[in-house]
Amino acid sequence: MEGSPRIKILGIVGSPRIGGNTEILVNETLKAAADEGATTELVRLHGKEIKPCDGCRSCRKTKECWINDDFKPVFDKMVEADGIIIGSPVYFSSATPQVKAIIDRAGYLSIAKGRVFENKVGGALVVARRAGHNFTLAELLFFFLHQGMIIPGSSYWNVAFGREPGGVLKDEEGLETARNFGRKMVWIIKRIKGLG
Ligand SMILES: Cc1cc2nc3c(=O)[nH]c(=O)nc-3n(C[C@H](O)[C@H](O)[C@H](O)COP(=O)(O)O)c2cc1C
Repeated sequence: MEGSPRIKILGIVGSPRIGGNTEILVNETLKAAADEGATTELVRLHGKEIKPCDGCRSCRKTKECWINDDFKPVFDKMVEADGIIIGSPVYFSSATPQVKAIIDRAGYLSIAKGRVFENKVGGALVVARRAGHNFTLAELLFFFLHQGMIIPGSSYWNVAFGREPGGVLKDEEGLETARNFGRKMVWIIKRIKGLG
């Protein structure tokens, strides 16, 4: 969604399922951020090939990841954004492998490039049928904290309930938490950038 070019928020949907609960939740956050004036973009990991980090550490020297797959365009969007949201369904009390591949590779490469995520605003959204939200949320927040990023709060922790695609639409508190998170993200970015 087009808003101020000075506030860019990227929402990464880490579900392998297109149009699922994670996508709905990330979209709620992005819509609320757009209403506050941000330009937003949603990126699905669905259909992308993003291999796991192989631990070669060559990025420390070359400042690039040698693995030739769909990672680089996603990483470049993360570098360009003022705010980064990572949404994941809970899979066995954890984020999905697609999300883990992104955080391992982006996290290592960003350090190699001189901590390029430092002082960006970030946060996570997680959705599950029943349990494992808090572990997964913490797993993702550890990434943002490690990167020296600033994490806004919301009206609750950023968790929601749903099983089948669309199930999360019944969790009004989860949706409102996602929206408040989007509003808070823009509130903080405006202040960091001296726009509000
Ligand atoms: C492999 C797999 C593991 C899952 N593990 C959990 C779990 O640990 N706890 C839980 O409550 N739900 C679990 N679920 C349910 C999903 O988190 C839930 O269906 C979620 O809404 C999927 O989000 P999506 O529609 O964005 O893909 C699991 C689903 C799958 C496919």
